[in-house]
Order: sequence, then C-alpha cells, then structure tokens
Amino acid sequence: TSVAPLAIRGRVLSFDADPALVPSGGRGAVRYIEDGLVLVEDGLIKAVGEAPAMLRELSAQVMVADHRPHLILPGFIDPHLHMPQTQVVASYGAELMEWLQKYTFPEESRYGDPAVAAGASRFLLDELLANGTTTAAVFCTTHPGSVDAFFAESLSRGLRMVAGKVMMDRNAPPALLDAAEEGAADSEALIARWHGRGRLEYAISPRFAPTSSEAQLEATAALARAHPDLHVQTHLSENLGEIDFVKQLFPWAADYTAVYERYGLVRPKGLFGHCIHLGDREWRAMARGGATAVFCPTSNLFLGSGLFDLARARVEGVKVGLATDIGGGTSYSMLRTASEAYKVLALRGQTLPAFEAFHMMTAGNAAAMGLEERIGRIAPGLEADMVVLDSQATTALRRRMERVDNLADELFALLVLGDERSTVATYAAGRRVFDRRSGPARPAH
Ligand code: GUN
Ligand code: ZN
Repeated sequence: TSVAPLAIRGRVLSFDADPALVPSGGRGAVRYIEDGLVLVEDGLIKAVGEAPAMLRELSAQVMVADHRPHLILPGFIDPHLHMPQTQVVASYGAELMEWLQKYTFPEESRYGDPAVAAGASRFLLDELLANGTTTAAVFCTTHPGSVDAFFAESLSRGLRMVAGKVMMDRNAPPALLDAAEEGAADSEALIARWHGRGRLEYAISPRFAPTSSEAQLEATAALARAHPDLHVQTHLSENLGEIDFVKQLFPWAADYTAVYERYGLVRPKGLFGHCIHLGDREWRAMARGGATAVFCPTSNLFLGSGLFDLARARVEGVKVGLATDIGGGTSYSMLRTASEAYKVLALRGQTLPAFEAFHMMTAGNAAAMGLEERIGRIAPGLEADMVVLDSQATTALRRRMERVDNLADELFALLVLGDERSTVATYAAGRRVFDRRSGPARPAH
C-alpha cells in the first residue's frame, strides 16, 4: 500500500562507517545535519539533506513532521531477544542454568496457548517501538503457533523482524520439547508460511547445544543447508556451567563452538548470543565462518555470566552485535543496553565512545545481521525506519545538558541517562508507529 509522501525535520544523525575503524576519533564516519530533512516515499528514504534547501523544492502535498530540536536516527536494531520472556525479566537470584529451569522453561511452557503468544507479541512490539527499536532478532518458543503470533503482529505493523521457532528436544520439560525431525519440519513449514512476507525473515533457531540431541542438530544442519541465506540464531559460551555441560554432552567436540561448526551453523548471518568465554580456536572459527557474536551486557551482568571482550572480537575480525537479550537482559532500551556495555567494557579496561555506541545500535547491528543494504542508516534507498530522540527528556538529562557543548558529549549523556522517556516518535517504513503523546499506533483493523 502506498503511503502519502512525508518529510521529517530535525537533527539528522546517521553513520556511514564504523567510527572505531575511522581515524581521528571516528568523525569521518558521522553524518550529522543540524537542520535536516528526511523525505520518505513508499516506505523508503527518498532523499536526505539540508531542510531549508529541500523545502524550497518540495511540493505542497508533502506533509512535514517537524521534530526540531530533536535528533532523528535510524531505528534501533536489537539482534537478540526472547518474545516469551517478557514476564521472566527480573526473576531473582539465579545463574543461567538454574534460571532456565526455575523461571524460563516453565514460563515458555505457557506459549502453546495462541492467546498467550499473541498477547506477548503485542506487548513486546509496543515496548520495542516505544524504545525506538524497529528491528529485532527474536526467539519464539518451541510451539510453531508462537511464531505465527509474533509474525502476524509484526506484519500488521509493517516491521522488518527476524524470528524463529526454537528447536529443543532434550534437557527441558516435555511441554517444551519437539523432536529432531519434527522441529526441522515445523521450521520448514514456518519458512514457507512467513519468510519474505512483508519485511519478515525467518531465523533457524536451535536454542543452544545443551537442549538439542545430535539427531536434532543433524536435522538442523540439513535445514540450514537447504536455506543458505537465512539467519541462524542460538547461544554460545555464556556461562561456565553451560560450557561444562556441553563438554559432557559432546565429548567429541574440541570446544563449544566446534559443535555448531560440525553442523554448519557457524556461517554468515549466524547470530551467536553471548560469546563470553571463547578460546583462541573458537574466536578464529567465528571469524573464519563470518558469524556474529552478540554482546548482551544487561543479561551478562544480571545472570553473572561474565564480561564480553569487544577488543578481542575486533582483533579477531569477528562481527559484533549489541542486544538486550530480554528476558535474561533487564531493559528493552538500547540506550540502557549501550550504557551497560560501556560499564562492562570499563571493567575490562576498554572504552565505548558515544559515536561507536550509536553506530552499534544502528548501522553496526544492521551489518551484524547482514541487513546493511536495507536498514541501519538514513540514506536514500534504505527503509524508512527511524527514531526521534529527545536528549532533554528528563530532569536529570536537562540538568546534565546545561554543561554539554558538543554532539559527542550530548550523545554520551543521552545513552547513559536516557531510556524510553527520550523516544519522541518511532517510524517504520515511513509510518509513525509510536508517538510519545499518544502511545503506540495500532493497526486500524
Ligand atoms: N541459553 C539458552 N537459552 C537461553 C535463554 O533463554 N536466555 C539466555 N540468556 N541464555 C540462554
Ligand atoms: Zn538469549
């Protein structure tokens, strides 16, 4: 459906390159237009430039949403989270394996009920859009209906979403288990039903090595071979007990990563959550495979899993994503997530400058997901997914901004002190899907 042309005015900020890879503090990677205009047509960005000059040329038919003095950024991208864990967030007192058994598996067992999955999907998408996140890589549950629910809700909102049915056939309650062939066949049917509809993309989603038999991983390998362009998402090397368990379950494997390599899953658009305790060989295998390590700082701190080594990933040439990991993670906000990333890296003697952080949340995560030609930047031809941010949204932000006189410091304070209260509006495919004044924009039907 064609949408009337729209232009969005404000302080436009986007990244042409990773500031970490550009000399002199990464300035050359930053595209910033103080009084900018983004022209949107049919869901895509048509033009970006200086507002006064562009407005002189535009027809009076074009509606202008004037967001000055707010910032306009590419919509945030969250490359790892769990749809069925919105009521697991903030469960007390456990490390990963206990947390899964005690809270997460019982909760996910409820998602065989389509109404539960539909309600959670609506809630999750409302929450993501309120936080300015327009694309996510999402684990549903074992139940195929949980994917139907999530994709149906995403489709009706016109979002680019990546999601899949979790495959798991052992070491969990029976209500959550599929079987080797069944899990792959259900995934195949979901791919046929959803992949490529609107902006939806299916992700092959074995939960993690401990919950899949070798037979299931074989079936997953065949599925992945049959669909070489699809995302694969799973978990890797999050927790020391988990790593020991993998050693027991797969005695033939040199290490945890070798299990996924054996089944052809360490490949481009392979999204591996956590990657905290990787050995030398594993880092090289990730790099060789062109896979992505996904850094989930609020989850890694909350579950006491460990501190991600960003410098190491960069040295090894491994792509990195930054994600919330709801519900091991504790915030839906990519701003808060980046703020916790900064603190994790501080404990490692590493830094995360503001431009690098904002690049990660946008173009960096797009590249980490292999979606850089569609989303992540404000540039002609890309999809019109954008977030408008108010860097003065709270008393603490306003107080801090009195002493800020440059963009880098403003962005850094915004990411440390900001959260969903800073979201003024969120656009997906050029449609306003969240507005601070009126809440989420729901589909008309
Ligand atoms: N490893 C396997 N499943 C999960 C999960 O749901 N959350 C996290 N954080 N790690 C996992
Ligand atoms: Zn996870």
